[in-house]
Amino acid sequence: MARASRPPRNPEPAVRCTARPARRYRGVLPLTRTAAEAVRSAAPERRVTSTGTEQEVVRMSGEFEGRAALVTGAASGIGLAVARRLAREGARVVVADHDEDGAQLAAGELETAGATAEALVVDVTDPDSAREAVRFTTGTFGALDLVVNNAGVGGPSMPTGEYEITAWDRVIATDLSGVFYGLRYQLPVMAAAGRGAVVNMASILGTNGFAGSPAYVAAKHGVVGLTKTAALEYADKGVRINAVGPGFIDTPLLRETDNPMRERLVSLHPQGRLGTAEEVAELTAFLLSDRASFVQGSYHLVDGGYAAQ
Ligand SMILES: NC(=O)c1ccc[n+]([C@@H]2O[C@H](COP(=O)([O-])OP(=O)(O)OC[C@H]3O[C@@H](n4cnc5c(N)ncnc54)[C@H](O)[C@@H]3O)[C@@H](O)[C@H]2O)c1
Repeated sequence: MARASRPPRNPEPAVRCTARPARRYRGVLPLTRTAAEAVRSAAPERRVTSTGTEQEVVRMSGEFEGRAALVTGAASGIGLAVARRLAREGARVVVADHDEDGAQLAAGELETAGATAEALVVDVTDPDSAREAVRFTTGTFGALDLVVNNAGVGGPSMPTGEYEITAWDRVIATDLSGVFYGLRYQLPVMAAAGRGAVVNMASILGTNGFAGSPAYVAAKHGVVGLTKTAALEYADKGVRINAVGPGFIDTPLLRETDNPMRERLVSLHPQGRLGTAEEVAELTAFLLSDRASFVQGSYHLVDGGYAAQ
């Protein structure tokens, strides 16, 4: 298959005040290895029985079959890996991001692999956009079963006494208020349905400090506290809310890091490497699944041993 080069990342949100479906991507879509696996797993299997006749194997349906999922920041990195993981298990996925081209490519890839996916342009720093993302999901898929509040930014590296006010505001708006705005509109819908599972993407820096990242650390600590509080409020309404704390993960968020810094980050992990987005998606999928039915209001690490030190 011909491969299309990825359109340049759009540094600015295409829409500031509300969510809207992204325009249809008309180029040739790259079929990734993950998507190809999904296609293979969707294909009917034939097996020779003990009597020598061939019969079609009825596959168990994926564990998220038919569930409606909303994943923010799904155009890239961890969010994209989560969207792929959920789609592979049968979820219908709204790929929400402020990077319109990236959301289009991601949703297109999932559809090419046989999943149901919609790209949605959102800005998680805008409460109206958060509300519209919920409306879009329920309007399109008839429900909101699974949510991953994942969109986030890193922010510059500067000590607290020199940290730019505008950078603080942007990181807090995206990484903390963005999660609150999401929950603010997602939880009433899930509570009314009497079911739902949410994962908020925190970080190991949700409980550890990190010199030079005051805004990010404060935001992620806030996400952990917000997760626990919302989980207490909605536990008896059939809605489970948990947080994931990844160590440093090899995604575009870290691509701007220079080599010495990258080596330092690697050395902070006892496993001697950065994590992958797929490893974070694996834990996230578990927490969203019915296998985690008694997991409520907790914060789970996937960090190669970082926080054990
Ligand atoms: N990469 C890491 O080392 C690491 C570690 C711990 C936690 N995390 C967290 O995981 C999440 C995903 O990070 P990633 O590493 O995949 O980064 P990434 O940059 O690859 O992906 C982040 C996505 O969020 C989107 N986004 C940013 N601001 C947005 C906004 N206002 N509205 C809508 N979408 C927006 C971006 O367009 C991008 O697609 C973030 O919350 C991040 O803090 C990352």
